Order: sequence, then structure tokens, then C-alpha cells
Amino acid sequence: MSSVEEIFNDMAQEYDDLSDLWYSWFFSRLHYFIANKIIHKNNKKKVLDIGCGTGFQSYLYSAAGYNVIGIDIANNLLDIAKQKNQIFNPDRVELFPEYYDYVTRYNQKIRKILKKKIGNIKYLPPKFHFGDAQNIIYNDSDFDHINCCGSTLSFVPKHKKAISEMARVLKPGGTFLIDVEHKWNFNFLWYILDPLVRGKLQINNSIRQGLKFLAKKFTRNIWINFPFGEFNNPVNMILKLFTTYSLKRDLMKYGLKVEKKFSIHSLTNLIPCTFLDSLKPSKKLVSLFKFLAKLEEKLPCYLPGSILVLYGKKVK
Ligand SMILES: C[S@@+](CC[C@H](N)C(=O)[O-])C[C@H]1O[C@@H](n2cnc3c(N)ncnc32)[C@H](O)[C@@H]1O
Repeated sequence: MSSVEEIFNDMAQEYDDLSDLWYSWFFSRLHYFIANKIIHKNNKKKVLDIGCGTGFQSYLYSAAGYNVIGIDIANNLLDIAKQKNQIFNPDRVELFPEYYDYVTRYNQKIRKILKKKIGNIKYLPPKFHFGDAQNIIYNDSDFDHINCCGSTLSFVPKHKKAISEMARVLKPGGTFLIDVEHKWNFNFLWYILDPLVRGKLQINNSIRQGLKFLAKKFTRNIWINFPFGEFNNPVNMILKLFTTYSLKRDLMKYGLKVEKKFSIHSLTNLIPCTFLDSLKPSKKLVSLFKFLAKLEEKLPCYLPGSILVLYGKKVK
């Protein structure tokens, strides 16, 4: 199996073209949360975007006036992030193509919020550098806010080391936003079910692997081998699924106290994620997805979902 770095480098050209349901919904909801709950007026603040990829969140914070540095281990993604500066319009904040009406709707909401909260600010483009989350080159207490999103921490072999580094470079009282792949969601059912329906869900899982979920203590994280991308040509990646309990505990150990929690793909994940990953979903699938997505918007955001988002402060 290729390394995380190689796999992400290989997908650089297509990374921003979110024609699948999974990522377009995930990032629409996440970016709205950032605009709504995190971004505030008077942001001369310094943000470190860890595992920035092609810079979705880096550009969002920049559009709101923050001074942003993005780091990542995949140089090809960093190149795209740097090139984006030539086409990015901070007034429009379109971070990826609007293939679905919900992407357009969330972009409109985000623009409205930024206009109201920020008004006219001096836009400073983000800067991007090669950097490993487990060994950050910046000084202690250098940043006011840490963003580590797009499930980055789920790909990092030593997540506790990465958390300790985040805590180190964050100022006391500084804030953080992290999202990870969550263990307890409907995918777990699909894991168990897939071998029983002879792999029709294309999760390529053995019964033994499925049962690993149940065998481990409820609060323990778990590593899985997950097939990303198209059904007939998936890219297998090792992924850590976190429990809320263990991630909160690991964060608190380094003085990072969680204040808000919310989930994405809580109900939409009633459809197995291998279907939602398709780059050309059928009309029927899109309709069903949109129906579930509408319901998900109405549900309390703290219900368990496939993506766990945690926001908090450094308290010591
Ligand atoms: C799914 S992408 C998310 C990228 C971006 N945050 C976004 O929301 O689009 C995960 C990113 O984590 C990066 N990554 C994985 N391991 C890393 C590490 N140890 N240090 C820094 N970045 C890492 C990958 O290269 C990839 O860009």
C-alpha cells in the first residue's frame, strides 16, 4: 500500500472537483460552521491550518481577514493551494464547484455571514509550507487558532504527538477546530453487513474485520482499511476512527478543552459511504441523499455521525 503522502499527491489534480455527495456535503456543512461559529470581527489573528490540503479552510479564514499559514505533507496539494491564489475571489468564497444546490445554498449563507460579521477587510492570501503535524516547526504559542480539518488527524499515525504539537504552538486561550472520522455511525453497520451480502457494498471487509468493531472496548479508537473513491477503482487507505471519549481525553491531556461538538453525515450515512463517494451518483441516489440531508439539518447536531467536529480552547 502507498503512503498517505503518495496517495494524496496522486489525487491532487482532482482533489477540488467535489462531484461526489460525501465530500461536497461534508465541506459545505463544515465551512458553514466555521463561518457561523468561529469567525469573528477584528481578526488580526494568526491561524495554523494543519493538513491544509489544497487550502479550503485556509482560504475561508483568509477571506475573513485572518493571517493564515497552511502546512501539509503532500507537496502536490500544496502546489494547487498556492496556485489557487490567482483565481480565489475573497468576496465570493467559492471553495469548490457548485455541483449540488446545497453547495450553492451554503455558499450564499457563508457570504452573507462574512459580509455581516466582517464587512470590508484587508484580504491577506494564505501562505503554504511543507510540514508534518507530528513535528511542527513553529515556535511555542505562535498561533491564535488551529484548524485541523478534512479528517487529517485520522490519517496521522501518531495522533497524540500531533495533538501535543497543536497544543504547543497554540497560545493559552487560543482556539482549535478539529474534525475526525468517528467510530460510532451507520458505517459500522455497513462494515458488519458487507461480508454477509458478499461484498455488494464494496467495503471489502471480512466478517472478522467487521467484528473487530464489537470486540474492542466501546470507547477505544480503531484502525480500518477503507476503500476511497469509485466502486470499481478504489484507493485503499488506513484510517483511524475515533471515539468522542478518547479524542476529548487526549485533547484535555494537553490542555485542549472541548467546548462544542457537532457531527456531519449523521443521517445521510444511512446510505453506505461507498455509494456516496461515487463521482457520478445516479439521480435516484442524489434525491434520496438530499432528502436525508434536509432531515439531518433539522436534527440536533450533537447526534453521532460519521464526521466528529470538536471546537475548544487551550486552557493551560
Ligand atoms: C482529506 S485531506 C484534508 C485536507 C484539507 N484540510 C481539506 O479540508 O480539504 C487530509 C490531509 O491531511 C494531510 N496529512 C496527512 N498526514 C499528515 C501529516 N502527518 N502532517 C500534515 N498533513 C498530513 C494529507 O496530505 C491531506 O492533505
